Amino acid sequence: MGDHYVPFRHCDKRRLVVFVLLAFIAGATFYSCTHLPAFSIADTPTIAHAQETVVPPGISHTSFEHGLAQCEALQRPRPVPQPVSERTVNPRGAVNSTLLIKNGYIWLGNEYMDGGDVLIQDGVIREIAMGIEPSRADKVVDAGGRVITPGIIDMHSHMMVDSIGGITAAIDGHEMSGPTKPYVRAIDAMRPTDLAIKVVASGGVTTNLVLPGSANVMGGEAAVVKLRPMPTLSVEDMLVTANATENEFPWRYMKFACGDNAKSFYGKQLKMPMTRMGEAYLFRKRFEEAQELMRQQDDWCDTAMRLNKTMHHDASSPEIQLSEPFPESLKLDSLIALLRHNVKLNIHCYLPQDIEAIVRHSLEFDFDIAALHHASSAWQVPEIIKRAKNNITVATSTDFWGTTVEVWDHNVYAPGILTEAGIPVTLITDHPVTNGRDLVYEAQRAYHYGWDEHLALASVTSAAATALGLDYRIGSIEVGKDADLVIWERHPLRLGARPKHVIVDGFELDFNASWFKGVVQEEFAEKDETQEEGSSSPIDVNDVHALPNRPTNALSLESHDANHPSLLKEACHPNTESFVLRNISKLYAAPGEVYTGAVDLVVEDGHVKCVGTTCEQAEWPSSAPIFQMHGGVVTPGIISSGVSMGLSEMINEPGTQDGFARNNIDDPDLSTSIVRAVDGLQFNGLHMRKAFKAGVTTSITQPMAAGDQMLAGVSVAFRTGIKHTLLDSNDTYVKTETALHFVITHGSSMTISQQMAALRSLLQDNEDKDAATNIFARAAQGQLAVVVETDDADEIASIINMKQHALPKVKFIILGGAESHLVASHLARVQIPVILMPARCVPLSWQARRCLYGPPYSKDTAIDILLRHGVLVGLASEDRKDGSARNLIWEAGWNLAHNKDMTQEMAVGLVTWNIAQMFGLDEQVGMIRQGYKADFIAYNGNPFEFGTTIDMVYGGGHPGPLCSPRQT
Ligand SMILES: *[C@@H]1O[C@H](CO)[C@@H](O)[C@H](O)[C@H]1NC(C)=O
Ligand SMILES: *[C@@H]1O[C@H](CO)[C@@H](O)[C@H](O)[C@H]1NC(C)=O
Ligand SMILES: *[C@@H]1O[C@H](CO)[C@@H](O)[C@H](O)[C@H]1NC(C)=O
Ligand SMILES: *[C@@H]1O[C@H](CO)[C@@H](O)[C@H](O)[C@H]1NC(C)=O
Repeated sequence: MGDHYVPFRHCDKRRLVVFVLLAFIAGATFYSCTHLPAFSIADTPTIAHAQETVVPPGISHTSFEHGLAQCEALQRPRPVPQPVSERTVNPRGAVNSTLLIKNGYIWLGNEYMDGGDVLIQDGVIREIAMGIEPSRADKVVDAGGRVITPGIIDMHSHMMVDSIGGITAAIDGHEMSGPTKPYVRAIDAMRPTDLAIKVVASGGVTTNLVLPGSANVMGGEAAVVKLRPMPTLSVEDMLVTANATENEFPWRYMKFACGDNAKSFYGKQLKMPMTRMGEAYLFRKRFEEAQELMRQQDDWCDTAMRLNKTMHHDASSPEIQLSEPFPESLKLDSLIALLRHNVKLNIHCYLPQDIEAIVRHSLEFDFDIAALHHASSAWQVPEIIKRAKNNITVATSTDFWGTTVEVWDHNVYAPGILTEAGIPVTLITDHPVTNGRDLVYEAQRAYHYGWDEHLALASVTSAAATALGLDYRIGSIEVGKDADLVIWERHPLRLGARPKHVIVDGFELDFNASWFKGVVQEEFAEKDETQEEGSSSPIDVNDVHALPNRPTNALSLESHDANHPSLLKEACHPNTESFVLRNISKLYAAPGEVYTGAVDLVVEDGHVKCVGTTCEQAEWPSSAPIFQMHGGVVTPGIISSGVSMGLSEMINEPGTQDGFARNNIDDPDLSTSIVRAVDGLQFNGLHMRKAFKAGVTTSITQPMAAGDQMLAGVSVAFRTGIKHTLLDSNDTYVKTETALHFVITHGSSMTISQQMAALRSLLQDNEDKDAATNIFARAAQGQLAVVVETDDADEIASIINMKQHALPKVKFIILGGAESHLVASHLARVQIPVILMPARCVPLSWQARRCLYGPPYSKDTAIDILLRHGVLVGLASEDRKDGSARNLIWEAGWNLAHNKDMTQEMAVGLVTWNIAQMFGLDEQVGMIRQGYKADFIAYNGNPFEFGTTIDMVYGGGHPGPLCSPRQT
């Protein structure tokens, strides 16, 4: 995890190594003081002449010259970029080429231009107008009324220093040989063949700040790159400043980190820092050193300048002496540049005390903080942030929380709160912690939670450009700016939005082509051959550019006093177990059962009494409240699976979790000693509460296995809305023994072949035992599902083979499944369902390397291919890693944007009834049927559009309905 250090002592084995290494990420800038322009030849004659007469004792002429050049550079005024509107040259631009984009819905920062054209010349935007003559360009792209935004900018990525693909040797983000490494540089490690460059660009991301990790308080220098293929494979050619002209100031970028990471890592080795006090001292100590050297430099220059003058006026002035060369140190060079205000400093910092400490240091030593990164608690302390001398940007994520105490106070409304306080906000991904490709998803959710549409878009474009000091080139669609543009298939703030065209420096990116010399891409990108390219149907302009209205029709009571708020509150009382929902426009009840029109849902004593358009009013429960849904949409309650909800709160706080299970597979009594999740559940934790408020009413929770364990134990299905403890409901559990869980682990003491053999023999050897007393017999006989967690296509193939030839009765379920699309037809044939986790893959392990990203990178994702083959598919979140269980509905709807064969009903099934069916729970949860326990979510509009909110969650063991829950 990029900046998110989690010790991962014992968690997820397959990702263990990657996490540990990604846990801290390091960076590098590269314009150093030593990179200043060389001493000009033209000056030498004078000095050479002077040399004859006065050479300061102790230093050579060359040394003097070198020092003088440094001094001169230090004195040189910072170049002022030419006004944007006058720019006609992009130093990285497509030379002598013109490109015209016709008929766009152009986002101009705070409004749109409908039907506008953009003319690009030599990689610069030269004109934005209606009706530009196509004859003026060599090439014309028809935007077809689609939204055009500037290229997306991510100011927090570890791309290229921490490559995807699960190769530990390609992890270079943390120089963990000591806590203060301001002198290491990302540029020296960046890998130009990181597949992520292409993957991330396919999300419309055109510029990245590549940062070192956060293990160290001083991580090193960072670099800003543009994402387009460079035939040279030169990282320097990728820099935004490649070929930069003299009037551009070459900002340097640095990465620091405060808080838990360094003290946990070094503290465990009994090294400094063990505490935040130690971190603060280290910061101040290094700054003191840098300050001292900077003063020596200034003194030296002062003397040298006077000497230089003297040499030209009075060759024999005796009192000026220079006995030492210009004082320099590679170790302190970047810190001195920071003190000289030539660095954009990016600090990973979450908590109020950490933010205050770093602001305090910045005032003590007079340096500028460009951005506080992650900064989950920034919304709590805007006044502290404003104590700084300069405007600090908060570079945060919308909804990454829950792993540690540092992200416990995360707030989805933070962007709005900070904006209100006058603090600029940008959104970031921390790639590969979350896939850098999906940066717009951050903006989308910020918009969903009520942030302004234009600020949300600016947070991933212009606000980031400003924080990087690059707003004179990138971040907006303006005449004179670099031609970095994205044409979106649908409005970028809508679910599933993907680019149709990505243009960088005037070059259009080709995602069908190989980007690098080498075999890497062919290895990774597996295209599905099962389907012909569909003919493109004419597009509906309103569909591609409009952002749906946020539905406002809130839940109301149908009575003479309908909108009285206290009445509504009363009706949503814990005792309300009988009620009617009216005027639902669409109700997804079960597979093949979708009601539309003016649908009623009648609930009596917590059970569904009637659903449909023909419910008899005479049979409605007497005196039950009648809620008006004003056309809202109802789905079954969502089922979370694959994660340990209820067993874990903060993953690196052992006190907040059940722990990591060990099962001895050689124990003859394993059937009784096996770890059962039901015995460790803790109710009403923050993960559970947030998920429940988002309509996750059921969790299938499996024990967390220790890193080298292939048998995790037995899962439990339970209701997530329970008040305090299991005693608060007589219906807490849906099923106490839900499935047997195996995890294929890499790098453990058992080989994969041993694990497969052990799995097979545990089931085979017990097949004939008494199912009443032996859990493995139950599993072998198909009474209990067997979940095998793996991403690898060959391992999945082994399970398919096992089912076909040895264990035909076993109800296998594949969890993970990043490469399952490669064996889709076989999975369908032997009826093995797949739960994809995460729903949108990112290959953090080698076993997931052939995951499919979807358009425009590949035509399909695994979801598309599995559904097409008729595989039963479910989706799981990575709640333990990012608190994302509450986002499951959006994961379900993501593919609707590009997969025309997929219906909303199929999307609903991915997180409800499909999962219930896999685990044999479909008579209890995941559907809305007469006689079933009522368990549903009522939305005020289409759940697959951002901005739609929840009016009511009912079920999940919660007493009465939960009305208009507010996420935090
Ligand atoms: C040194 O003196 C020469 C001659 O006056 C002048 O051109 C040059 O700019 C001086 N160098 C510095 C660094 O001041
Ligand atoms: C920099 O300029 C050189 C010479 O014109 C050119 O070959 C190279 O492609 C340019 N680099 C970039 C990143 O555009
Ligand atoms: C661009 O066009 C101009 C004018 O035709 C020509 O002089 C120049 O050499 C061209 N540059 C490149 C890089 O092709
Ligand atoms: C900080 O931001 C405000 C509001 O945008 C602006 O007026 C002010 O000039 C900025 N201050 C600095 C030091 O950049």
